Amino acid sequence: MRIDILTLFPEMFSSYLAASILQRAQEVGLLAVHLHNIRDYAAGKHRVTDEPPYGGGGGMVLKPEPIFAAVEAVLERGRQGDRETRRQGDSPSPPLPLSPSPPLILLTPQGRLFNQRVAQELAGREWLVLICGRYEGLDERVRQHLVTDEISIGDYVLTGGELAAMVVVDAVARLIPGVLGAADAAQEDSHATGLLEGPHYTRPESFRGWTVPEVLRSGHAANIARWRREQALRRTWQRRPELLLAAALTEEDRQFLAILAEGM
Ligand code: ADE
Repeated sequence: MRIDILTLFPEMFSSYLAASILQRAQEVGLLAVHLHNIRDYAAGKHRVTDEPPYGGGGGMVLKPEPIFAAVEAVLERGRQGDRETRRQGDSPSPPLPLSPSPPLILLTPQGRLFNQRVAQELAGREWLVLICGRYEGLDERVRQHLVTDEISIGDYVLTGGELAAMVVVDAVARLIPGVLGAADAAQEDSHATGLLEGPHYTRPESFRGWTVPEVLRSGHAANIARWRREQALRRTWQRRPELLLAAALTEEDRQFLAILAEGM
């Protein structure tokens, strides 16, 4: 997957992308992240990217021209597979098929709420373009005539879209087949099954007198699977009961939940 990120602060992304699973995904060619500074596409000696809003009021608004110019350049390069423009330090990206149209996603608190389902939807694309807003906002014509999707990572306001873009990259990248170690490692994640995950334990068997549940040490695969399922149901019921309404539940699951409810 190729992800282009347009931002005024590309340096904010470097350390996160250069560590752990995301670094490995780029090294093995499953993920190519290209960072672009919107300022590079601003005109004039001072490369101005923001101005006060028409009609007055506080704050500054990102101008449309540099954002349009940046997106158009990025689309052009991506469609050419970055043949001429690959720079040292950029992650390698395989040439893409002709004229793909990636979603142009603006990160904004006004967007649709990001969740695991949206992450899965985006993980099915081969190319994403993320646009990070800043300051008070950006010129409305960017929303109306350029972006094709708007995403919010939650009902709170950040100083810009950069952290939100990083959240999207992380959640999406780990769903690309092969990025996580075991082929099915993302399948049991909290939210992937519609339930929260149950508890995990590792060695030592006893730590400060707190012991690992007997069933996990039993080696009995079917009992362990059932115990894990019940723990996930219990945790979801306790913490996010509304998720149970949409989760795919078996008759056995329902019986277990009925027992939990009786014990209330
Ligand atoms: N930019 C500022 N706040 C944001 C949020 N909650 N989600 C996405 N982008 C943002």
